[in-house]
Amino acid sequence: MKTIQEIETDLFLLDAPFVKEMMEITYNMWKFNWDERNGGNISYLLHEEEIRRYLRNDHVLRTIPLDFPVKELAGKYFIVTGSGKYFKNVKASPAECLGIIKVSESGQSVDLLWGLSGDGKPTSELSAHFRSHITRLAEDPNHRVIMHTHATNIIAMTFTHDLNEKSFSKTLWKMCTECIVVFPEGVGILPWMVPGTDLIGEATADKMRDTRLVIWPHHGILGAGASIDDAFGLIETAEKAAQVYMLVSAHQSGVKQSITDDELVELAQAFGVKPNSKFI
Ligand code: 13P
Ligand code: ZN
Repeated sequence: MKTIQEIETDLFLLDAPFVKEMMEITYNMWKFNWDERNGGNISYLLHEEEIRRYLRNDHVLRTIPLDFPVKELAGKYFIVTGSGKYFKNVKASPAECLGIIKVSESGQSVDLLWGLSGDGKPTSELSAHFRSHITRLAEDPNHRVIMHTHATNIIAMTFTHDLNEKSFSKTLWKMCTECIVVFPEGVGILPWMVPGTDLIGEATADKMRDTRLVIWPHHGILGAGASIDDAFGLIETAEKAAQVYMLVSAHQSGVKQSITDDELVELAQAFGVKPNSKFI
Protein backbone atom coordinates (compact mmCIF):
# COMPACT_ATOMS: atom_id res chain seq x y z
CA MET A 1 0.00 0.00 0.00
CA LYS A 2 1.24 3.48 -0.85
CA THR A 3 1.77 6.00 1.95
CA ILE A 4 -0.11 9.33 1.96
CA GLN A 5 3.18 11.00 1.01
CA GLU A 6 3.65 8.69 -1.97
CA ILE A 7 0.10 9.32 -3.15
CA GLU A 8 0.73 13.06 -2.83
CA THR A 9 3.93 12.74 -4.90
CA ASP A 10 2.04 10.81 -7.61
CA LEU A 11 -0.52 13.61 -7.75
CA PHE A 12 2.15 16.30 -8.02
CA LEU A 13 3.93 14.40 -10.76
CA LEU A 14 0.78 13.92 -12.80
CA ASP A 15 0.92 17.65 -13.27
CA ALA A 16 4.54 17.68 -14.44
CA PRO A 17 4.85 18.57 -18.15
CA PHE A 18 7.46 15.83 -18.70
CA VAL A 19 5.15 13.14 -17.25
CA LYS A 20 2.26 14.42 -19.36
CA GLU A 21 4.47 14.33 -22.45
CA MET A 22 5.45 10.72 -21.73
CA MET A 23 1.81 9.74 -21.21
CA GLU A 24 0.70 11.36 -24.44
CA ILE A 25 3.51 10.20 -26.69
CA THR A 26 3.36 6.55 -25.57
CA TYR A 27 -0.39 6.51 -26.17
CA ASN A 28 -0.01 8.07 -29.62
CA MET A 29 2.76 5.65 -30.56
CA TRP A 30 0.59 2.73 -29.52
CA LYS A 31 -2.27 4.17 -31.60
CA PHE A 32 0.10 4.27 -34.57
CA ASN A 33 0.38 0.53 -34.15
CA TRP A 34 4.11 0.78 -33.55
CA ASP A 35 4.23 -0.38 -29.95
CA GLU A 36 2.45 -3.67 -29.62
CA ARG A 37 2.44 -5.27 -26.16
CA ASN A 38 5.54 -3.91 -24.35
CA GLY A 39 7.30 -2.95 -27.60
CA GLY A 40 9.24 0.32 -27.49
CA ASN A 41 10.92 2.38 -24.80
CA ILE A 42 11.75 6.03 -24.13
CA SER A 43 14.27 7.83 -21.94
CA TYR A 44 14.15 11.58 -21.41
CA LEU A 45 16.90 13.57 -19.74
CA LEU A 46 15.41 15.89 -17.10
CA HIS A 47 16.95 19.02 -15.63
CA GLU A 48 17.10 19.14 -11.84
CA GLU A 49 15.17 22.45 -11.73
CA GLU A 50 12.21 21.01 -13.65
CA ILE A 51 12.01 17.96 -11.36
CA ARG A 52 12.26 19.97 -8.14
CA ARG A 53 8.87 21.60 -8.66
CA TYR A 54 7.21 18.20 -8.52
CA LEU A 55 9.58 15.95 -6.59
CA ARG A 56 10.63 17.62 -3.37
CA ASN A 57 13.55 15.43 -2.35
CA ASP A 58 15.96 12.77 -3.54
CA HIS A 59 14.41 10.06 -1.39
CA VAL A 60 15.68 6.83 -2.93
CA LEU A 61 13.00 4.15 -3.25
CA ARG A 62 15.41 1.53 -4.58
CA THR A 63 18.89 1.31 -6.05
CA ILE A 64 19.06 -0.62 -9.31
CA PRO A 65 22.51 -1.92 -10.36
CA LEU A 66 23.67 -1.54 -13.97
CA ASP A 67 25.85 -4.10 -15.70
CA PHE A 68 27.32 -1.40 -17.94
CA PRO A 69 28.97 1.60 -16.26
CA VAL A 70 27.86 5.07 -17.40
CA LYS A 71 30.06 7.39 -15.36
CA GLU A 72 29.57 10.12 -18.01
CA LEU A 73 25.93 10.37 -16.90
CA ALA A 74 26.66 10.53 -13.15
CA GLY A 75 24.16 12.72 -11.30
CA LYS A 76 21.83 13.01 -14.31
CA TYR A 77 18.08 12.47 -14.02
CA PHE A 78 15.91 10.62 -16.53
CA ILE A 79 12.31 9.64 -16.85
CA VAL A 80 12.18 6.20 -18.47
CA THR A 81 9.59 3.64 -19.50
CA GLY A 82 9.59 0.41 -17.52
CA SER A 83 10.60 -2.97 -18.84
CA GLY A 84 7.62 -5.07 -19.88
CA LYS A 85 5.22 -2.12 -19.58
CA TYR A 86 2.67 -1.57 -22.33
CA PHE A 87 2.70 1.85 -24.04
CA LYS A 88 -1.09 1.45 -24.20
CA ASN A 89 -1.24 1.55 -20.39
CA VAL A 90 1.14 4.41 -19.53
CA LYS A 91 -1.63 7.01 -19.70
CA ALA A 92 -3.79 5.16 -17.17
CA SER A 93 -0.98 3.98 -14.88
CA PRO A 94 2.01 6.35 -15.12
CA ALA A 95 3.42 5.52 -11.67
CA GLU A 96 3.57 1.84 -12.64
CA CYS A 97 4.85 2.22 -16.20
CA LEU A 98 7.29 5.12 -15.81
CA GLY A 99 10.17 5.83 -13.45
CA ILE A 100 12.35 8.80 -12.54
CA ILE A 101 15.91 7.66 -11.99
CA LYS A 102 19.17 9.36 -11.07
CA VAL A 103 22.50 7.90 -12.16
CA SER A 104 24.79 7.32 -9.18
CA GLU A 105 28.17 9.03 -8.84
CA SER A 106 30.00 5.83 -9.80
CA GLY A 107 27.75 5.30 -12.84
CA GLN A 108 27.32 1.67 -11.73
CA SER A 109 23.69 1.98 -10.62
CA VAL A 110 20.61 4.17 -10.76
CA ASP A 111 18.53 5.41 -7.85
CA LEU A 112 14.78 5.14 -8.35
CA LEU A 113 13.15 8.36 -7.10
CA TRP A 114 9.61 7.85 -8.34
CA GLY A 115 7.46 5.33 -10.19
CA LEU A 116 8.06 1.75 -11.40
CA SER A 117 5.87 0.75 -8.50
CA GLY A 118 5.64 -2.90 -7.53
CA ASP A 119 9.28 -3.76 -8.23
CA GLY A 120 9.29 -2.52 -11.84
CA LYS A 121 12.58 -2.08 -13.67
CA PRO A 122 13.73 0.44 -16.28
CA THR A 123 13.56 -0.72 -19.91
CA SER A 124 15.73 -3.68 -20.85
CA GLU A 125 17.26 -1.44 -23.55
CA LEU A 126 18.76 0.92 -20.97
CA SER A 127 22.27 0.27 -22.29
CA ALA A 128 21.28 1.44 -25.81
CA HIS A 129 19.54 4.46 -24.27
CA PHE A 130 22.25 5.50 -21.83
CA ARG A 131 25.14 4.87 -24.21
CA SER A 132 23.31 6.77 -26.98
CA HIS A 133 22.66 9.67 -24.59
CA ILE A 134 26.41 9.84 -23.92
CA THR A 135 27.18 9.90 -27.65
CA ARG A 136 24.49 12.42 -28.54
CA LEU A 137 25.32 14.77 -25.64
CA ALA A 138 28.89 14.91 -26.90
CA GLU A 139 27.53 15.95 -30.34
CA ASP A 140 24.74 18.24 -29.17
CA PRO A 141 24.47 19.84 -25.70
CA ASN A 142 20.70 20.30 -26.23
CA HIS A 143 20.12 16.58 -26.73
CA ARG A 144 17.57 15.01 -24.31
CA VAL A 145 15.56 12.12 -25.72
CA ILE A 146 16.19 8.59 -26.98
CA MET A 147 13.14 6.81 -28.35
CA HIS A 148 12.89 3.20 -29.53
CA THR A 149 9.84 1.88 -31.33
CA HIS A 150 8.71 -0.97 -33.59
CA ALA A 151 7.68 1.27 -36.50
CA THR A 152 5.84 -1.08 -38.85
CA ASN A 153 7.00 0.02 -42.29
CA ILE A 154 10.62 0.54 -41.24
CA ILE A 155 10.61 -3.09 -40.05
CA ALA A 156 8.92 -4.22 -43.28
CA MET A 157 11.47 -2.38 -45.38
CA THR A 158 14.36 -4.18 -43.66
CA PHE A 159 13.06 -7.41 -45.26
CA THR A 160 12.81 -6.15 -48.82
CA HIS A 161 15.44 -3.42 -49.19
CA ASP A 162 19.18 -4.05 -48.98
CA LEU A 163 20.64 -3.00 -45.64
CA ASN A 164 23.35 -0.73 -47.03
CA GLU A 165 23.19 2.58 -45.14
CA LYS A 166 23.83 4.67 -48.24
CA SER A 167 21.21 3.09 -50.48
CA PHE A 168 18.67 2.75 -47.62
CA SER A 169 19.07 6.43 -46.69
CA LYS A 170 18.79 7.55 -50.31
CA THR A 171 15.67 5.47 -50.84
CA LEU A 172 14.06 7.07 -47.76
CA TRP A 173 15.11 10.57 -48.90
CA LYS A 174 13.49 9.96 -52.29
CA MET A 175 10.15 8.77 -50.90
CA CYS A 176 9.04 12.13 -49.48
CA THR A 177 10.47 15.49 -50.48
CA GLU A 178 11.15 16.73 -46.95
CA CYS A 179 13.05 13.66 -45.70
CA ILE A 180 16.47 14.99 -46.62
CA VAL A 181 15.66 18.21 -44.77
CA VAL A 182 14.61 16.33 -41.60
CA PHE A 183 17.46 13.79 -41.53
CA PRO A 184 20.21 15.03 -43.90
CA GLU A 185 22.72 12.71 -42.22
CA GLY A 186 20.69 9.65 -43.32
CA VAL A 187 20.14 6.57 -41.16
CA GLY A 188 22.52 4.16 -39.47
CA ILE A 189 21.79 0.43 -39.72
CA LEU A 190 23.05 -2.33 -37.42
CA PRO A 191 23.26 -5.97 -38.38
CA TRP A 192 20.54 -8.06 -36.75
CA MET A 193 21.43 -8.41 -33.06
CA VAL A 194 19.92 -9.81 -29.88
CA PRO A 195 18.05 -6.95 -28.17
CA GLY A 196 18.36 -5.93 -24.54
CA THR A 197 22.13 -6.46 -24.40
CA ASP A 198 25.06 -4.17 -23.80
CA LEU A 199 26.45 -5.28 -27.19
CA ILE A 200 23.51 -3.80 -29.09
CA GLY A 201 23.76 -0.79 -26.78
CA GLU A 202 27.39 -0.17 -27.70
CA ALA A 203 26.78 -0.71 -31.42
CA THR A 204 23.77 1.64 -31.39
CA ALA A 205 25.64 4.40 -29.57
CA ASP A 206 28.49 4.05 -32.01
CA LYS A 207 26.12 4.69 -34.94
CA MET A 208 24.53 7.62 -33.08
CA ARG A 209 27.77 9.56 -33.52
CA ASP A 210 26.86 10.11 -37.18
CA THR A 211 23.10 9.65 -37.41
CA ARG A 212 20.22 10.42 -35.04
CA LEU A 213 18.24 7.52 -36.50
CA VAL A 214 19.46 3.95 -36.08
CA ILE A 215 17.62 0.97 -37.55
CA TRP A 216 17.60 -2.44 -35.92
CA PRO A 217 16.69 -4.77 -38.84
CA HIS A 218 13.55 -6.87 -38.36
CA HIS A 219 13.02 -5.16 -35.00
CA GLY A 220 12.58 -1.38 -35.07
CA ILE A 221 14.25 2.00 -34.95
CA LEU A 222 15.80 4.43 -32.48
CA GLY A 223 15.64 8.19 -32.74
CA ALA A 224 17.44 10.89 -30.78
CA GLY A 225 16.38 14.47 -30.23
CA ALA A 226 16.38 17.63 -28.17
CA SER A 227 12.75 17.01 -27.18
CA ILE A 228 10.08 14.33 -27.34
CA ASP A 229 8.64 16.06 -30.42
CA ASP A 230 12.03 16.21 -32.06
CA ALA A 231 12.82 12.48 -31.60
CA PHE A 232 9.26 11.48 -32.50
CA GLY A 233 9.20 13.75 -35.57
CA LEU A 234 12.37 12.14 -36.88
CA ILE A 235 11.01 8.61 -36.51
CA GLU A 236 7.62 9.64 -37.88
CA THR A 237 9.23 11.10 -41.00
CA ALA A 238 11.39 8.02 -41.66
CA GLU A 239 8.40 5.74 -41.01
CA LYS A 240 6.25 7.74 -43.45
CA ALA A 241 8.95 7.39 -46.12
CA ALA A 242 9.16 3.64 -45.42
CA GLN A 243 5.38 3.40 -45.75
CA VAL A 244 5.48 5.12 -49.15
CA TYR A 245 8.31 2.77 -50.18
CA MET A 246 6.29 -0.30 -49.17
CA LEU A 247 3.24 1.06 -51.02
CA VAL A 248 5.03 1.84 -54.26
CA SER A 249 7.11 -1.32 -54.26
CA ALA A 250 3.95 -3.40 -53.87
CA HIS A 251 2.36 -1.65 -56.84
CA GLN A 252 2.21 -3.72 -59.99
CA SER A 253 3.30 -0.94 -62.33
CA GLY A 254 6.42 -0.24 -60.22
CA VAL A 255 8.13 3.12 -59.83
CA LYS A 256 7.76 5.27 -62.97
CA GLN A 257 9.52 8.41 -61.69
CA SER A 258 11.19 9.59 -58.54
CA ILE A 259 13.22 12.43 -57.02
CA THR A 260 16.64 12.45 -58.72
CA ASP A 261 20.03 12.81 -57.00
CA ASP A 262 20.35 16.32 -58.50
CA GLU A 263 16.97 17.24 -57.04
CA LEU A 264 18.07 15.99 -53.61
CA VAL A 265 21.09 18.29 -53.81
CA GLU A 266 18.86 21.16 -54.92
CA LEU A 267 16.54 20.51 -51.96
CA ALA A 268 19.40 20.46 -49.47
CA GLN A 269 20.71 23.75 -50.85
CA ALA A 270 17.27 25.37 -50.72
CA PHE A 271 16.76 24.35 -47.10
CA GLY A 272 20.33 25.01 -45.99
CA VAL A 273 21.10 21.46 -44.82
CA LYS A 274 24.24 19.45 -45.49
CA PRO A 275 23.41 15.92 -46.63
CA ASN A 276 25.79 13.14 -45.62
CA SER A 277 28.66 13.44 -48.10
CA LYS A 278 29.25 9.67 -47.97
CA PHE A 279 25.73 9.12 -49.31
CA ILE A 280 25.38 11.84 -51.96
P1 13P B 1 11.20 -3.25 -22.67
O1 13P B 1 9.78 -3.59 -22.33
O2 13P B 1 12.18 -3.92 -21.73
O3 13P B 1 11.39 -1.77 -22.77
O4 13P B 1 11.53 -3.88 -24.08
C1 13P B 1 10.75 -3.58 -25.20
C2 13P B 1 11.50 -3.60 -26.46
O5 13P B 1 11.07 -3.02 -27.42
C3 13P B 1 12.79 -4.34 -26.53
O6 13P B 1 13.51 -4.01 -27.68
ZN1 ZN C 1 12.18 -3.30 -29.30
